Amino acid sequence: MSTLEMRNVSKDYRLRDGRNSRILRAVNNVSFTLEAGKTVALVGQSGSGKSTLAKILLQLERPTSGEILLDGKAVARHGRGLRDYRNSVQMVFQDPFASLNPRMTIGDIVAAPLAIHGEGSVAERPKRVNEMLSLVGLPARFAERRTRCNACIRHPRYPCRPWSVRSPSDVR
Ligand SMILES: Nc1ncnc2c1ncn2[C@@H]1O[C@H](COP(=O)(O)OP(=O)(O)OP(=O)(O)O)[C@@H](O)[C@H]1O
Ligand SMILES: [Mg+2]
Repeated sequence: MSTLEMRNVSKDYRLRDGRNSRILRAVNNVSFTLEAGKTVALVGQSGSGKSTLAKILLQLERPTSGEILLDGKAVARHGRGLRDYRNSVQMVFQDPFASLNPRMTIGDIVAAPLAIHGEGSVAERPKRVNEMLSLVGLPARFAERRTRCNACIRHPRYPCRPWSVRSPSDVR
C-alpha cells in the first residue's frame, strides 16, 4: 500500500516591517500519514496553516524543518525525482477563476497535465480527456467549450464568442 507521510514538518516565514523583522510559525511540527485511495480532511481555523501545509506537500514551499516521504523514501527536491513525485501528487485548486483560463477550451485545460508531463501522444489526448469528462458526467462535446461564465457574469452587451451560436438562448 502506497503512503505519503509528513514527519515533524514546520514552516517559518520571516515578516519584515521596515527595519524590524519577526518570525511567524505558520506550521508547527506536523506529522501524519496518508494512504493512497483514502480521503482525509484537514480542518482548522483561518490562518492555522492548512494551505501552507498543502503547498509543502506539493513541494511548492520548502519546509523549514521536517521531511516528506513517499512510500517511506524522502522525496527529491529537484530534478527528475521531483518530476516523478509530481506524477503521484497533484493539487486540485479550489478557485475556478485562477484555475480556468477562459482562452482555453475545457479539453485543453483537462489535457494540460499530460502536455506538461509529456505523457502519451498528442493524438491520444482527446480520448483521455473524454474518459475524464465521462467520469464526471460530462458529454464529450464539452471538451470544445470555453469557460465563459466569468466573461458573461456582468451581462456584457457584446459578448465576444469565438465559437458558433446554436440558439439565441445560448448567448444569454
Ligand atoms: N508567503 C507567506 N509569507 C508570510 N506569511 C505567510 C505566507 N503564507 C502564509 N502566511 C501566514 O501563515 C499563516 C498560515 O496561513 P495559511 O494560508 O496556511 O492558513 P490557512 O489555514 O490556509 O487559512 P485559510 O483557512 O484562511 O485559507 C497565516 O498567518 C498567514 O498569514
Ligand atoms: Mg488556505
